[in-house]
Amino acid sequence: VGVSAASAVRVRVDAGGTVELDAGGAPARRLIPLWLRENCPCPECAHPGGGQRIVDVTELPDDVRPAAVSVEGGELAVEWGDGHRSRYPLADLLASDVGDDLPPAELWDAATVLPGPFAAAALAADTAQLRACLESVHRFGCALVHGAPARAGALEDVVALFGHVRETNYGRLFDVRAQADPANLAYTGRALGPHTDNPYRDPTPGLQLLHCISADAGGGETTLVDGFAVAELLERADPDGYRLLAGTEIGFRYHAPGVDLRSRFPVLRLDAGGVLAEVRWNTRSCRPFGFEPGLAEAYYRAYRGFGRLTADPLLVRRLALRPGDVIVMDNLRVLHGRTEISAPGDRHLQGCYADRDGLRSRLRTLRRAEHEGGHP
Ligand SMILES: [Fe+2]
Ligand SMILES: [Zn+2]
Repeated sequence: VGVSAASAVRVRVDAGGTVELDAGGAPARRLIPLWLRENCPCPECAHPGGGQRIVDVTELPDDVRPAAVSVEGGELAVEWGDGHRSRYPLADLLASDVGDDLPPAELWDAATVLPGPFAAAALAADTAQLRACLESVHRFGCALVHGAPARAGALEDVVALFGHVRETNYGRLFDVRAQADPANLAYTGRALGPHTDNPYRDPTPGLQLLHCISADAGGGETTLVDGFAVAELLERADPDGYRLLAGTEIGFRYHAPGVDLRSRFPVLRLDAGGVLAEVRWNTRSCRPFGFEPGLAEAYYRAYRGFGRLTADPLLVRRLALRPGDVIVMDNLRVLHGRTEISAPGDRHLQGCYADRDGLRSRLRTLRRAEHEGGHP
């Protein structure tokens, strides 16, 4: 009903109380009264510490309306019918609020030059190096670190740079070495095709770290494949197969004495906008499919197609890990495996799981500190 202009932002309020902010250029931002009242940043409505809401959205009146609206010194000032006054920084109202400021994922193949390797000592001493390493995990799904101590337990210090160990029934850290009576295929000497770990857990660990302690056996090179790149190739070659892997839940299970872990997920999990968010690829721990023959045939075609692409030499990177090397992987994106252990010897890796959210939180705080020229 009213129009007022100040600085570069024009404010208009319509008959229903919706406030329109027009900064020129971008489309005008339109905010309904309920949204404005719920998001009042005053200390009665939002906690001054972390900004968490105190106001209870369910208790606001249905017909909440602004009584007066104006722009004063870079802020939108609203006076409400009940006398409450709100002031919002215009920059906050105009910012697109829901997005993340982290860079998008970038696909890679065997030939792509990836950031790093990163020196373990530099990660601990230099926040710019740590930021670059964590950003590599975020953008590419992996980072290689050199020069960690080649002793059992040293992985704890690497995880502590950005997050916390996710303890499981395999322990805080698990050992991967050839064993006489292995409880898991990873503990034998045979080749392991590219896979993600532990899809039978819900939630599935979002990060895996592998730390090389000794590498005296022959063979046993580590393989890495970008599962997002595999999915994109499948989508191009067989769009129906891609949709089937994305739209069909299958069962996963790990069963051992004292343990019976089960979950259901699609191989490719898309977000609500249809963008690929998570890959689970572990043919060893899928439960038998329960499909009728028509669907079973179509599913196997897509599933085997994806599996063949994971072995494509154009996609698979091979790394001969040296003692002190650590790979940090996004376990919901990057597949790992190893070539056959061809000559006996002491090959000892230690691994652990962690979560994506802690790494991204640390990355955001490091990026903000760099941007502001301060220290985290
Ligand atoms: Fe694994
Ligand atoms: Zn308030």
